[in-house]
Amino acid sequence: MPRKIAAGNWKMNGTRAALTQLEGIAATHADCDVLVCPPFTLIGPAVDTAQNRVMIGAQDCHTQTNGAHTGDVSAAMVKDLGASHVIVGHSERRSDHGETNEMVMAKAQAVLTAGMVPVICVGETLTEREAGETLAVVETQVAGSVPHDATVVIAYEPVWAIGTGLTPTIDQIAQVHDALRAQVIAMIPGGDIPLLYGGSVKATNATEIFAVGNVNGALVGGASLKADDFAPIIAALSAS
Ligand code: PGA
Repeated sequence: MPRKIAAGNWKMNGTRAALTQLEGIAATHADCDVLVCPPFTLIGPAVDTAQNRVMIGAQDCHTQTNGAHTGDVSAAMVKDLGASHVIVGHSERRSDHGETNEMVMAKAQAVLTAGMVPVICVGETLTEREAGETLAVVETQVAGSVPHDATVVIAYEPVWAIGTGLTPTIDQIAQVHDALRAQVIAMIPGGDIPLLYGGSVKATNATEIFAVGNVNGALVGGASLKADDFAPIIAALSAS
């Protein structure tokens, strides 16, 4: 069985005051892995607060280790702060920063080279879903942006479900995750790749989402910002 992971993506939210929420998350009992990805500015303080009770990750990194890339941050730099994971290819990066599958692949490889785990995001837009292209889009993204490495994590995040309160039906989640599982078994033989669902996961829908066979956890945005919201999701995954 792949590892179960409850991952929080804080996006561009949080100053040092938010470390009290991280303390609450770290104090939550968990029978699963818990990962919190704060903004770059909080990674160092978050590692200190977490004290290895939860894992800390970044939300992006550059493809290069160092060099003339003003404003960018490398995988080696976040590794140096104590990060264990880096989210790459989030749909907000793909749309806001024009990240292609090739760039996401290069970032994921940079994360692996630095000795961390890439959490690689894929997912269709509403237009693509309505055109019946969901599986083709997701499979193309996985083929183009996931290195053939047994340690990677993949997050399926339908773009239209992110931050909207909308979620796919349980059957729709199952269909994509079953297809993903078949694809990664073929791509990475022997790899027990965790497949996370992301997009408007909250306490009220977590249990039914985690009951889906090939769902091994969640990548949670809004509901990971407050310990009181994230704790029931961690509990639901622990109980699944
Ligand atoms: P959300 O975000 O939980 O706020 O929908 C999920 C994500 O973007 O990872």
